Amino acid sequence: MSASPRTVDAQAPARAPVTVTSLLEAKRQGRKTVMVTAYDYPSARVAEAAGVEMVLVGDSAATTVLGLDSTVPVTVDELLVLAKAVRRGLTASFLVCDLPFGSYEATDLDAVRTAQRFVKEAGAQAVKLEGGGVMVDRAAAIVRAGIPVVGHLGLTPQTATALGGLRAQGKRAEQAAQMARDALGLQDAGCCAIVFEAIPAAVAEEVMPLLEIPTIGIGAGGSTDAQVLVWHDLLGLMEGRTAKFVRQYAHLHEEMLAAVRAYADDVRAGAFPTREHTYAIPPEELGRLQAALAQLPDAAGAAG
Ligand code: KIV
Repeated sequence: MSASPRTVDAQAPARAPVTVTSLLEAKRQGRKTVMVTAYDYPSARVAEAAGVEMVLVGDSAATTVLGLDSTVPVTVDELLVLAKAVRRGLTASFLVCDLPFGSYEATDLDAVRTAQRFVKEAGAQAVKLEGGGVMVDRAAAIVRAGIPVVGHLGLTPQTATALGGLRAQGKRAEQAAQMARDALGLQDAGCCAIVFEAIPAAVAEEVMPLLEIPTIGIGAGGSTDAQVLVWHDLLGLMEGRTAKFVRQYAHLHEEMLAAVRAYADDVRAGAFPTREHTYAIPPEELGRLQAALAQLPDAAGAAG
């Protein structure tokens, strides 16, 4: 038994559901919007209660949740389990799910089939895919199938090896210009938004005004329409260093460690559980139980 679900936002006022249209409207009105990643029901409830507009079940789950070295090995089935849990926690926030590496790149049919699974099985409202070039065609195919698509340019972790590692992109004019062409291609393909990861702020300031669709930055400075942070980075849930673009709003790893240590100390010292954590039995029932136990064949021997 544990805390009952759906208690986090008991006090929160109801919000209108976020849609592709409302995100576009926010951009047109110059209102900044917010995205976070989430990988389970409790974090989805917190994101929802905090009024976050977009929640991304990122393939970053590979490293943050599954303990893998990169996002490459995570599978569609693994992400679907997490996405379904997040879906159950959301009411108004807009759910975006990453298409994992290897599940969409080869053909338009792969892309559409995988996107359909996220919509059908996990209730995704959009899917996200990484890259420009031929990925623009994949995005277009998914859009034609009636599924909103979010693009992802700049540092694309699924293909980080080809990019020379997890490092900022677009520091050379030609590379930044290609990124702008890809962004326009994704927009023409019908994408409803684009994530820009780890690019110079000055490049973002040049490229963002070219786009009519909402832009979401992570390590791209302040000129994008929205910002996204990875849940574990934002809350300080992981040990070790974070990327330059992360601001930690809590240090939950330390807090969790202290809490679990305190629990372990209490158990070892006999300080937990105490009477307040136990269930009572009426005295007459206890008396009857003791009498019944005394009748058990080995009761006398065991007691003696
Ligand atoms: O997987 C992820 O968390 C992402 C964000 C960094 C945008 O793609």
